[in-house]
Amino acid sequence: MSNTEPVELICAKFAESLARGTFARLALSSPVEVVDAPEKVLGRFVMLKGVPHLSLTLRYPTRDVTKNLPKSDAVSWLRAQLGTHFRSALVCTTQRDWQFISNEAGVARLIDHQPSAKKTPSPEHDRKRAGLLDDSARDWLQGLDVLDREGKLRVSMADKHRQINHYLEIFSHLAKECGWMEKNIQHPTSNIQRPMVTPTPERGAMEVGCSMLEVGCSQTNAPNRSSALQLVDMGCGKGYLTFGLWHLFSRVWKQPVRVIGVETRADLVSTTNKLARQIKADGLEFVRGEIQSVKLPPVDALIALHACNTATDDAIRRGIELGAKLIVVAPCCHKELRPQLGKPEPLAAVLRHGLMEERMAEWATDGLRALFLEWAGYRTKILEFVASEHTPKNLMIAAIREGEPFVDDAARKKIEELKNFFSVQHQVLDPLLGKNQTAS
Ligand SMILES: C[S@@+](CC[C@H](N)C(=O)[O-])C[C@H]1O[C@@H](n2cnc3c(N)ncnc32)[C@H](O)[C@@H]1O
Repeated sequence: MSNTEPVELICAKFAESLARGTFARLALSSPVEVVDAPEKVLGRFVMLKGVPHLSLTLRYPTRDVTKNLPKSDAVSWLRAQLGTHFRSALVCTTQRDWQFISNEAGVARLIDHQPSAKKTPSPEHDRKRAGLLDDSARDWLQGLDVLDREGKLRVSMADKHRQINHYLEIFSHLAKECGWMEKNIQHPTSNIQRPMVTPTPERGAMEVGCSMLEVGCSQTNAPNRSSALQLVDMGCGKGYLTFGLWHLFSRVWKQPVRVIGVETRADLVSTTNKLARQIKADGLEFVRGEIQSVKLPPVDALIALHACNTATDDAIRRGIELGAKLIVVAPCCHKELRPQLGKPEPLAAVLRHGLMEERMAEWATDGLRALFLEWAGYRTKILEFVASEHTPKNLMIAAIREGEPFVDDAARKKIEELKNFFSVQHQVLDPLLGKNQTAS
């Protein structure tokens, strides 16, 4: 059998299944290129505005991208992928499953199996306009004015909708890494040592009307501490992501969760709490408080999206102190380091340009944040959050606690070296440097 035969055969089977209405699903795996390529592509048949399409989910390590192809282009698209972009493919039909496998030398074969699907899935697209935000998210998305009264996406809120959805996709990959997606989860904080840190003295006056410790003890909406994960969203604003996280756990994964939104503005806290009550969001609550000082119970995950300037550092510090397994921050403005930033050679000639200096200050600030998290025992990654055409503030730092905090002197040294290189005298996270447990 020549190499092109298996390609043509599977494409013929695919075309036949589309024509006969027996196509169930498609999966491509084993990408030829590993850099910037999706790990997998999943395909299913959908109707979009009455027109048949092949809907593709391109699965990257930290996000999913959806693409829809008209049905008429589907077979030629598959032909172009096989052997060139992916070495394996599976076309499932209700009659037979067809598996294409090619090796590194390009030698391909086709194997057929018993069908794994007995009937074709519903072609209704609305599993939905955006993945995790399906119909079950309608009440809170309407309450936050992302959807209109008819449940249609407001044009002006399309970016926000995309942002929430994308955030939840990233978060679900991270939650998976933390082992939080399995059913009957063990409480992740029960068997992992929390860092031995003494909270840094509170810097801001506490403005909380109701103390979070009291909220933590209340029996009202809070799920059982022994089975529910506890998540906090610092500087939650209108609560888009707070509702989103609650939705992800409660409604998508059907897991008990307690999500706390912290916000300094009383008006926002009042409206978000009202909406949470209105939609009967058990386990979701908003409190008025300052990121740096609000009283909180231990948490499993802490997020902060666009917390201004050093509020992001405060959120990171609180996450470490509260023993969060997962910390995810997407910083906003970076003002602390810029006035301190030295101009070491050979960068000096470039840093005389204000824009370059500003970018370098952002780079150094976020780089230092990641290093501080590593010193605190976290594995960090820096990702692009939303495409840069939507906002220049598109960087995200995700950190998963995996090691002992404050014992890795090499990690500590990297912070000092970077600070020395840029002559940085002060960074809000500096007090963490004093928590060296090996020294004592
Ligand atoms: C840019 S908004 C982001 C809101 C939300 N995280 C989002 O991305 O949709 C920042 C929010 O953080 C709140 N905020 C700023 N500093 C804070 C602090 N120290 N403590 C609590 N909230 C704060 C602001 O009132 C504002 O609502």
